[in-house]
Amino acid sequence: MRTIAVVNQKGGCGKTITSINLSAFLAREQRRVLLVDMDPQGHATLGLLAEAGPPARTMYDLFLQRAAGQPAALRDVIRTVRDNLDVAPADILLSAIPDTLAGLVGRENILSDAIAGVRGSYDYVVVDCPPNVGLLTFNALKACSEAIVPMDPSFFSLHGIGKLLETFDVLEKETGHQIAVRALVTLYSGRTAFAKAVADDIRHHLYGRHFETVIRYSVKLAEAASHGVPIAHYCRWCVGFEDYQALATEVLLQEAARAENGSVSVEGDAILVSAAVDCPGPLAPAATSKEVVFAIEAPQAAQVQVMGDFNDWNLEGSDMEPVDGTWKKVVTLPPGRYRYRYIVDGRWQRDPFNVAVEPNPYGGLDSIVVVQEKRAG
Ligand SMILES: Nc1ncnc2c1ncn2[C@@H]1O[C@H](COP(=O)(O)OP(=O)(O)OP(=O)(O)O)[C@@H](O)[C@H]1O
Ligand SMILES: [Mg+2]
Repeated sequence: MRTIAVVNQKGGCGKTITSINLSAFLAREQRRVLLVDMDPQGHATLGLLAEAGPPARTMYDLFLQRAAGQPAALRDVIRTVRDNLDVAPADILLSAIPDTLAGLVGRENILSDAIAGVRGSYDYVVVDCPPNVGLLTFNALKACSEAIVPMDPSFFSLHGIGKLLETFDVLEKETGHQIAVRALVTLYSGRTAFAKAVADDIRHHLYGRHFETVIRYSVKLAEAASHGVPIAHYCRWCVGFEDYQALATEVLLQEAARAENGSVSVEGDAILVSAAVDCPGPLAPAATSKEVVFAIEAPQAAQVQVMGDFNDWNLEGSDMEPVDGTWKKVVTLPPGRYRYRYIVDGRWQRDPFNVAVEPNPYGGLDSIVVVQEKRAG
């Protein structure tokens, strides 16, 4: 079961539209999907259950009962939307939970424990987060191993990305929980030079650690949500349909890569291979070596290094170069599978944008990069 949080503390960047439509397209591909609404605004709930009337039980009840030590299962809250697609609804009452649960030990694990109870019933759990970083978002991040960060180019700022990455850092530092993060450009209107420049900027700074799919501005997406249906059930011939279908395909491709290799470790191949460019250099075998760009954003850091089995985990020559707060190192690698980690001011960490990881003997996770053989033709 894959668990994906759709998260950004910025409001109105497309979290809910992404949660609804990604879930719906995955369900169309015969995956069993649960969308958990963790936003007291209840927009995902309204966007899927508008016709059905207010739900009898919501995430608020689940949190309250679990906090009181009573047995409360997600199953009791879940409503079926259509084949393969369920929703765990929320409404405004959920906004009382952070205050109500203040000081309660273990309050950040309630969602993760609840989701553990439906493991086996779903292939995907998608969690729509509220536009702030509080107890509800923290619950979502602790419950998920992947995160999609929708980014509206008009609000884009590297500062914004930095802040968000800090949240993931805090999570990892405080709890040891790591989460693979990928950005998704949303509300894209290619008509203005500004939007194009911003989208290019995102690609540049994230070095392919974003979805290739870009979600274009499509008024039909908003219309569909206001009618309480995903785009797939509202309008077949519009860019909103095309784009969210493409996003689901990208998510499913990661699944295929995972199955092919028999482990979770290659989910990120698509990303990392796109960060590698052909290198007809002198290294043998010349025709198949790749320049792999290692990059990590750490504007506050004084020193960042990258180490892996490709340099025998050797500190010598591992220093990365800072460019506008992003640290970079280009390494030419022959085809193969490599483990690596970053060291940011002496602190080891895995690559926050690479979902491909493997446990190491020291209790941490190494990131994995695969340089593929060039196929004939
Ligand atoms: N690609 C798009 N094209 C056109 N309108 C969109 C698109 N994506 C989202 N919208 C509209 O923009 C608004 C904000 O989108 P959405 O509710 O998904 O954002 P959000 O990040 O969940 O917001 P919040 O932070 O308040 O939860 C909504 O009115 C939605 O219908
Ligand atoms: Mg929302």
